[in-house]
Amino acid sequence: MPLVVIVGCQWGDEGKGKVIDFLAHDADWVARYQGGNNAGHTVIVHGKKSILHLIPSGILHPNVKCLIGNGVVVDPQALVEEIHLLEESGIAVRERLFVSENTHLIMPYHRKLDHMMEARRGANKIGTTGRGIGCAYGDKVARHGIRMHDLRDKDKFAQKVATFSPFYQHLFQSYGEQPWSVDEVVEEVWRYRDEILPLIVDGVTLINEELDKGKKVLAEGAQGILLDVDFGTYPFVTSSNPSPGGVCTGLGVAPRKISKVVGVVKAYSTRVGAGPFVTEIHDELGTKLREWGGEFGATTGRPRRCGWFDCVALRRSLQIGGITNLALMKLDVLSELDEIRVCTHYRINGKTVDILPFGLETTEGVEPVYETFKGWKQPLDPVRSFDDLPQEAQDYVFALEKLIGARMDFVSVGPDREETIFRSEELFRGL
Ligand code: IMP
Repeated sequence: MPLVVIVGCQWGDEGKGKVIDFLAHDADWVARYQGGNNAGHTVIVHGKKSILHLIPSGILHPNVKCLIGNGVVVDPQALVEEIHLLEESGIAVRERLFVSENTHLIMPYHRKLDHMMEARRGANKIGTTGRGIGCAYGDKVARHGIRMHDLRDKDKFAQKVATFSPFYQHLFQSYGEQPWSVDEVVEEVWRYRDEILPLIVDGVTLINEELDKGKKVLAEGAQGILLDVDFGTYPFVTSSNPSPGGVCTGLGVAPRKISKVVGVVKAYSTRVGAGPFVTEIHDELGTKLREWGGEFGATTGRPRRCGWFDCVALRRSLQIGGITNLALMKLDVLSELDEIRVCTHYRINGKTVDILPFGLETTEGVEPVYETFKGWKQPLDPVRSFDDLPQEAQDYVFALEKLIGARMDFVSVGPDREETIFRSEELFRGL
C-alpha cells in the first residue's frame, strides 16, 4: 500500500517536478491533492521542457494514470486547454486522467474577484497568481461552492449559479464593476463541460481501491509548506494545505495509508508574490541568482525574489512535514559564488529564534544570523556521485543537513533527469 507524498518545503518552486518525474517511473497513479492552476511544474526530459499547471506531471509517463483530487480547485477552461496542449504534443490524456466529483470549480467570477480584491488591498496585496484560487476555496468553505458533480445536470448547475449570484452581483456593483448574467456564466462553463464530463469519477473510492490492490500512488503537492494556509507565512500564503495533512483531506485517504513523505528543498530560497522573506538578497547578487537559477514564475512569468537558504523556515516545514526523505535541488546554481551564506537563526528583539514564528508578517526588526561557507567555483552538472562533488559542495550539503537535522537523499545538479546524484538508491530507484 505505498502512498508516497511529494511536498515542497519552502515557498514553492523547489523543483518538485523533477522529483515527481523520477518517482513517477515506478508509479501506477499520480494524484494532485490541493491548489489549482496557480502551480507550475517544470519538467525537462532530454532537453524538452514541459510546464504543467493543473494536470499532475505524472501524465508525461504513458503508463501512469492521474487523478485530480477533491482538494484541488479546477478552472474548467484551464483544464481543457491543458488537455489540448498535451494532446498537441502527442500525449494521450483522456483515458488516463480522472477528476473527483467532489472537486470544486473555479468559476469566472472567482477570477474576477481575485483581481478585484488584489487591486483593493493596496500595499497589503498578497501577489496572488490571479487565477481565482483563494476565492474558489473561500466559496467552498462558505458552502457556496460548485463542484464537478454539478456539471452532470445543466438545470441544477444553473440553479446553483443563480442562488449564489446575488452575493456577487451586489459586491461587484458596489465596487463599480460590471455585473454579469447567470446565463453568461453558465454558458461560459458549459463550453468546456462535454470534454470534462467523461473524466468525472468518485475519486475517493477509486484511489482507495487502487491502494488496497497494492497499486503505487504518488501524491503530488503544489506550492510549499511555507505557503500553507494554516502553517505558512499567513496571510501571504495560498488558500490550501500543501503540507502532507492536505493529502488526507484532498484525496480522501486515511493518514495511516501514507508510507513516505519526500520533501523537496532548493539549495537557496525563492518566493514569488508578497510576504516576509528574511534572507532575501536585495542587491545585484539577488539578480544574478535569479538569472543563474532561471527564477521566473512558471505560471505568471514574474521574477522570483531570491535569497539564502533559511534553516529557521526549514525547521518549521520539517516539523510539520514528517519528511522521510529529502531532495536538495539546484545545487549547481550556486557554483559561481565565492561565498555562500546560510541563515542559522533569527534575532528578534534581542532574542534568538530558531523556528519560523507564526506571527511573522514583516521582516522589520528581524535580523538573520548567517554562517558563511566557501564556494566551489566549478560546474557541477557532470557530477553523478556525491563523493565526486568538490569538497566545498559536500561541506555545504553536510552543513545544511546538520543545521536542519535531516539527510539529503537526492541532490540535483542540473535541470535534466540525468543531472542527479542519488544517496538513497532504495527510494529513488523504485517506490
Ligand atoms: P494564489 O495561490 O494565486 O492565491 O497566490 C497566493 C500566494 O501563493 C502568492 O504569493 C503566489 O505567488 C503564491 N503561489 C501560488 N502558487 C504558487 C506556486 O506554484 N509557486 C510559488 N508560489 C505560488
